[in-house]
Amino acid sequence: MSDLDGQEDSLLGGPRKQRCKWQGWMQIGLGVWAAVATVGIVVIAVMWVHADTAPGSGLDKFPPSGKKNIVFMVSDGMGPTSLALTREYRQLTDGLSWDNTLTLDKHLIGTSRTRSTNSLVTDSAAGATAFSCGIKSYNGAISVLPDGSPCGTVLEAAKKAGYMTGLVVTTRLTDATPACFSAHVNMRMEEDRIAEQQLGDYPLGRVVDLMMGGGACHFLPNSTEGSCRKDDRDLVTEAQKKFGFQYVSGRKGFDSLEKGKKVKLPLLGLFASTDIPFEIDRKDEEYPSLDEMTEVALRVMEEATKHSDKGFFLMVEGSRIDHAGHGNDPAAQVREVLGYDKAFNRVLKFVENAKNPSVLVATSDHETGGLALARQLHASYPEYLWYPEVLANASSSSEYLAAKYAGYSGSSSSEDEFVKKTILEEGLGVHDASEDEIEALKAAKSGAAWVLADIISRRAQVGWSTHGHSGVDVNIYGSKGSERLHGNHENTDVGNFIKDFLEIDVDAVTEELKEKGVDRAVTMEEVEEGGMLVSQVREYPWMGRSLHELAKDGFETAGVDCYHGDYKHKH
Ligand SMILES: *[C@@H]1O[C@H](CO)[C@@H](O)[C@H](O)[C@H]1NC(C)=O
Ligand SMILES: *[C@@H]1O[C@H](CO)[C@@H](O)[C@H](O)[C@H]1NC(C)=O
Ligand SMILES: [Zn+2]
Repeated sequence: MSDLDGQEDSLLGGPRKQRCKWQGWMQIGLGVWAAVATVGIVVIAVMWVHADTAPGSGLDKFPPSGKKNIVFMVSDGMGPTSLALTREYRQLTDGLSWDNTLTLDKHLIGTSRTRSTNSLVTDSAAGATAFSCGIKSYNGAISVLPDGSPCGTVLEAAKKAGYMTGLVVTTRLTDATPACFSAHVNMRMEEDRIAEQQLGDYPLGRVVDLMMGGGACHFLPNSTEGSCRKDDRDLVTEAQKKFGFQYVSGRKGFDSLEKGKKVKLPLLGLFASTDIPFEIDRKDEEYPSLDEMTEVALRVMEEATKHSDKGFFLMVEGSRIDHAGHGNDPAAQVREVLGYDKAFNRVLKFVENAKNPSVLVATSDHETGGLALARQLHASYPEYLWYPEVLANASSSSEYLAAKYAGYSGSSSSEDEFVKKTILEEGLGVHDASEDEIEALKAAKSGAAWVLADIISRRAQVGWSTHGHSGVDVNIYGSKGSERLHGNHENTDVGNFIKDFLEIDVDAVTEELKEKGVDRAVTMEEVEEGGMLVSQVREYPWMGRSLHELAKDGFETAGVDCYHGDYKHKH
């Protein structure tokens, strides 16, 4: 008998009675039932009131109605093999079981076919144009079609519809992927012009509310150290004075944002002169990570749309997975993919907990490098294996080590020792370099990155078929609400998904941009050359050099090239 029973009995003052157990439970039961019923009614009432704001609700219907957000993530140059590479590397280094997968692995929903209009192997510009405009174009095209006309982007249309917009990248902000959402030029190399347009110096005015990444050099006048502009325009000052941007740079500038609490949109954050260093080389005290920038962007976007009936469009790119692929550097790539997976996980948690219908769609523009997890090293039949532990031993990228070697100023008598100890052992984690390899490095010197990448790839038994891109289908990942992208799709379906999800009018933007063109009479010379049966063409001087001018320099933008014995030609 409990103390409570004794207390009750003594209060009643009468003789102690043996109470029926069942009766006691009955009384307690009634009390509990009443309490449960009351709480239940309250819960149901609360759920009724909040029915359309509970996380994840509203996503059963496509497109969801009302206020909504979409985060589009791009893993530039990440093919399916990069996932197995990273998953198996992480299992080894973190001591995980073979069934422990990446967050990305758990959200695989489909694949994307990536060809462009003029090649079966796309570049990032045509790849991102498929995402931004929902239309295929030629390699090099920054949201411009093969006929030279601009195509409105989902970011521009989202801005016009009242959404907030943002771009977060680890490469230069003027590089192809972010450029395609916020600029229009005929050839991706026009990065100075892209920077101007991204601030608002083009027919639509400012359309981007938040930009974070590298590429400060294209915003600084040519008189400044660290500029890569051809002219003396000071875009950092223009951004602040003319377009009202809050401008921050460097790690200090990033930290001053206080995870997004100290942001007044529009925001321009340039955290590196060109690209932000590879994850393997990046120092936290010098540069923010993709995940950190994503954290700030999500918070700012959420806060900025708090009192709006429209949500936001945010593009986040793991830009340098591609660069590690171009360099054929598996040690750098595996850390890039891990960093991307971390940012993906952050966005996923955000959309899953968001009050308004929010969706995450992630894909790659193409694969880079033709990565293979096996490599035949000798003429004899190979064993079936690859060695992730070789990548774990490397502490720097081959890009970083090549630059370090290029800066070597010691005597030539100690050069062998420098290459062996500092570059190969300390940097690459390779302790068994051959004389031939050291000689190859010395011969390459400033071009040592490819030699270093080959040294580590051979030891890991990781293969590459090219330093360029490849034509394999890439993966599509998505959160709840992205079901329409299940299965195998054309890359343009991804752009059209964004457009349809946000219910925005991209065609109206295209029309507005086209109005800013000028008609030019076709010369007799052109008619003779190209045999075009038109008297005039529409050109867009604000988009830089015209396709006609580019063609004179040998840029072929029409049609897929045919075979002409290329295997024999060697440059
Ligand atoms: C810098 O830009 C100005 C004006 O655009 C140009 O005249 C000058 O030649 C440029 N200087 C260099 C070093 O490129
Ligand atoms: C990794 O580095 C250690 C020394 O730090 C070395 O003993 C070992 O052989 C290396 N492993 C591989 C796979 O290169
Ligand atoms: Zn790319």
